[in-house]
Amino acid sequence: MIRTRDLTKRYGATHALEGLDLEIRAGGVLGFLGPNGAGKTTAIRLIAGLIRPSRGSAEVAGFDVARDPQAVHARIGYLSGEFRAYRDLTAERYLRYLADLRGGVDPARIASLAERLDLPLRRRIGELSHGNRQKVGLVQALMADPPVLLLDEPTQGLDPLMQREFLGLIAEARDRGCAVLLSSHILSEVEAVADRIGILRAGRLVALDAVDALRGRAVRRLDLVFAGPPPAEVVAAVPGVRILGTTDRTLHVEVEGSTAALVAALGPHAVEDVVSHEPDLEEIFLSLYADGGEPA
Ligand SMILES: Nc1ncnc2c1ncn2[C@@H]1O[C@H](COP(=O)(O)OP(=O)(O)OP(=O)(O)O)[C@@H](O)[C@H]1O
Ligand SMILES: [Mg+2]
Repeated sequence: MIRTRDLTKRYGATHALEGLDLEIRAGGVLGFLGPNGAGKTTAIRLIAGLIRPSRGSAEVAGFDVARDPQAVHARIGYLSGEFRAYRDLTAERYLRYLADLRGGVDPARIASLAERLDLPLRRRIGELSHGNRQKVGLVQALMADPPVLLLDEPTQGLDPLMQREFLGLIAEARDRGCAVLLSSHILSEVEAVADRIGILRAGRLVALDAVDALRGRAVRRLDLVFAGPPPAEVVAAVPGVRILGTTDRTLHVEVEGSTAALVAALGPHAVEDVVSHEPDLEEIFLSLYADGGEPA
């Protein structure tokens, strides 16, 4: 449903995106991660046909984005990273206006999305909080049930409950065969809904892998809080586990891949608390590209 070939965008000397080759089939969900300026927005905007590539091409549902922009626009739900809307319209009127531009959307679908996301439809958009305004953007992207979703940082500003609701909506879209490309800065969020993760860095796709494979390679940091003196020797003996330090009754450890062996080894010991730190992207980069060359 989405295919790019050598997709490239340069702004003067800036290589915003370099030679992106990507395919997403129906029912596939790909999450883009990467630091600020990595090229996530550029890639999404190129595929949406909003900017022109310097080189290469993109196809959506078999239509070339440059040659058939209208066919492409009719098949995508797009959420911009900087979603803006007419401040003076109510959310409801604005969504109805966009629905008309699309050639009609079932009003019941809009109402149901608004209810699930707890979006106050009758308020003027200018009066909405940041998170509620973001929901207007989500509803407009999802309301026509398009076969392709392109979502740039869709959960920014959403509270945790709404983030979960959003992930549920994406899972439903995926289950009905929608192809989804979304970007985020939060690995756990992408992990929850994507089947593949692409990591962009300085305009290049430096890793593209199944979520399971990436998770298996990721290095995680845990704080293990014990009721008594920490059994440092037991923990250090677990394969893939490294002790980074000790404070009082807490062991700070690093675990490569699965935590199953560690959990099993801790069985007989009184663990009071486990604090897991989100593996940061740089750590994943390092574990993937330890030698600075090709992925392991
Ligand atoms: N219109 C533009 N003119 C010049 N440079 C641009 C333009 N748009 C993007 N860039 C540059 O292209 C690069 C990629 O930007 P992009 O917005 O795609 O990054 P991003 O991964 O979406 O970052 P973020 O996480 O901050 O949203 C950056 O170096 C950016 O400065
Ligand atoms: Mg961006």
